[in-house]
Amino acid sequence: MADGHEIAVVPGDGIGGEVTPAAVRVLEALDLPLSFVEADAGDHVLEAEGTPLPEATVETVRGADATLFGAAGETAADVILPLREAVGSFANVRPARTYPGVDAVAPETDLVFVRENTEGVYAGIEDEIADGVTTCTRVITEAASRRIAEFGFDYAAEHGYDVTVAHKSNVMRVTDGRFLESVRAVADERGADHEEALMDALAMHLVMRPEEYGVVICPNLAGDVLSDLAAGLVGGLGLLPSANVGRENGLFEPVHGSAPDIAGEGVANPTAAVLSAALMLDHLGHGDDADRVRAATEAVLDDGPRTPDLGGSATTEDVTAAIVEEL
Ligand code: NAI
Ligand code: MG
Repeated sequence: MADGHEIAVVPGDGIGGEVTPAAVRVLEALDLPLSFVEADAGDHVLEAEGTPLPEATVETVRGADATLFGAAGETAADVILPLREAVGSFANVRPARTYPGVDAVAPETDLVFVRENTEGVYAGIEDEIADGVTTCTRVITEAASRRIAEFGFDYAAEHGYDVTVAHKSNVMRVTDGRFLESVRAVADERGADHEEALMDALAMHLVMRPEEYGVVICPNLAGDVLSDLAAGLVGGLGLLPSANVGRENGLFEPVHGSAPDIAGEGVANPTAAVLSAALMLDHLGHGDDADRVRAATEAVLDDGPRTPDLGGSATTEDVTAAIVEEL
């Protein structure tokens, strides 16, 4: 396949193993030159192989043009953080919007979290420095902060959103001070407007009037927390896709985890995984097909069938078949 793309597929644990094949089925229903190579990771691999992320999986992901990831369970930090790094990603893009036919706390929501995903408190520098005394080192660099700001302003300009930067520089003066200054510098260089919001107050505003916000540029932890909050506004984690992108190939995954409470029942909502595949198609230059997938998914969200998280009684299989049928 000379001009095709190779996709690494890493379903992982729990419902990752249910929603990721659903997304692949949707991709296969398109007439695109995509090939798929499966690789394993997660809790079940730790049991079998002594590591949750075998080197072979990292190599498969590195070698592919893009990766579709499902979820990992307790080993999530040992799996997804290295994989996001392996693909050279620094931006975790998480769109959270409402859809016709889906009950939402906040029906007018159309947010995109642009989350820095290489540093902050997720840099992995934790210690027990004395018995009962633990520390976590928060890393914020000017380079990574400028990089995520540039990405966020580009994304907002391309898609027509306002920009808000979330920070807590009144308390974390040095680290978030640097983050905020870096975003300001990028905004100044571009003559771009932006709003600044303390992240705790922003959490409240996002609940009370989400329609006033668009792109939210965040440090790592804030982006993780605020995007799940937004999932709650729009109808749940079953709906939120994400893209881990940067300079190299990307990794695309639902925002949700392995959902052990419903795993194995065949009722996980495949929407987040399918919309993640659509973000992957955008990234690979198949924007028209990505739009087709989104339109088909939205039609099924509106007309049903719906999985139990959206108040229905359909299975993952029913919803996937309906999306494929729509296509
Ligand atoms: P979770 O996202 O797995 O589930 C939270 C709630 O949302 C559960 O009630 C679940 O049933 C529901 N939910 C999530 N996705 C759904 C879907 N597609 N359809 C219907 N309902 C859905 O988060 P939780 O429970 O906090 O974590 C479970 C495990 O997942 C933990 O071991 C955690 O470490 C891991 N995790 C992994 C992530 C990753 O691989 N990127 C991200 C978040 C959590
Ligand atoms: Mg999360």
